[in-house]
Amino acid sequence: MAAASATLNSSPVIDKFKCSYADELVKTAKTVASPGRGILAMDESNATCGKRLDSIGLENTEANRQAYRTLLVSAPGLGNYISGAILFEETLYQSTTEGKKMVDVLLEQNIVPGIKVDKGLVPLPGSNNESWCQGLDGLSSRTAAYYQQGARFAKWRTVVSIPNGPSALAVKEAAWGLARYAAISQDSGLVPIVEPEILLDGDHGIDRTFEVAQKVWAEVFFYLAENNVLFEGILLKPSMVTPGAECKNKATPQQVADYTLKLLHRRIPPAVPGIMFLSGGQSEVEATLNLNAMNQSPNPWHVSFSYARALQNTCLKTWGGRPENVKAAQDTLLVRAKANSLAQLGKYTGEGESEEAKKGMFVKGYVY
Ligand code: 13P
Repeated sequence: MAAASATLNSSPVIDKFKCSYADELVKTAKTVASPGRGILAMDESNATCGKRLDSIGLENTEANRQAYRTLLVSAPGLGNYISGAILFEETLYQSTTEGKKMVDVLLEQNIVPGIKVDKGLVPLPGSNNESWCQGLDGLSSRTAAYYQQGARFAKWRTVVSIPNGPSALAVKEAAWGLARYAAISQDSGLVPIVEPEILLDGDHGIDRTFEVAQKVWAEVFFYLAENNVLFEGILLKPSMVTPGAECKNKATPQQVADYTLKLLHRRIPPAVPGIMFLSGGQSEVEATLNLNAMNQSPNPWHVSFSYARALQNTCLKTWGGRPENVKAAQDTLLVRAKANSLAQLGKYTGEGESEEAKKGMFVKGYVY
């Protein structure tokens, strides 16, 4: 008994002792989680970006990716609604079509640059056809270089599939990988976005999603704590709790908000500054309505967005790869960013939305 309490009493204060970037991490996380703002996820890998460009008839060349991302980062006034932008490695080191560093354009807009650091999903042997996320090897040298290049937060997306189980092995692997990544990122001064995406795939009801999400987040926080991760210096990127995409019973924004907030209250400590949801294949309007429903009364954390598809879809279609459409496309991006900013404040009305913005974007087995 005496020995056990001696060990406990002599354990160091983790945040000050282990991580020299503690103060900066807390500050960065608070800046990203600032009122009325959220994250623009524009970190599609080259393969995924290629699919987006293909949908508007463009070739997947570096020049086309650069043109599209220039359009996004230079939308005038974007920083009023967007606090952080997640970039793919190519973009972090890239200049705009006007020759300015993308990172500098973001900083001028008061937007914190972030970086996707995972190396994608591969099959997980011994599981039920599930996957695991690669990228831990050499991660600390990459995160140090990304910090030098101007990134201040990171993202690691792994997935959990409900129809495939999820097996205990897949959940444990997802949680452990996220925790190791989070510790390594903090050690380099990058705020880790912790993203175990529970895929929309399946015909299960909302209660089943809730059950799986509880299990996943319990394990994620168990391993984050085991890895001495500073909770005040992380951000979360969960899926909202919804029925499976192929479930006959659809949920209203109120139901999604009730289930999701219940999950968050049960599993997420208030030390965590921000919860930045992914859109996961919801339509642009659906994602905004659901976020708005979650912000109708005060929450212990900043509850906001980190959308890719639900911010970019109409913007990409409006652009269509034509220089003369750049301004119109930027305007549609700003419409979505502003709508989600209002939803973060609980003040979105849903009025005046286009039919395009109401179209769902679910794709089975989506990779990023
Ligand atoms: P979606 O909002 O399109 O689901 O993007 C998720 C993501 O992880 C992007 O960083």
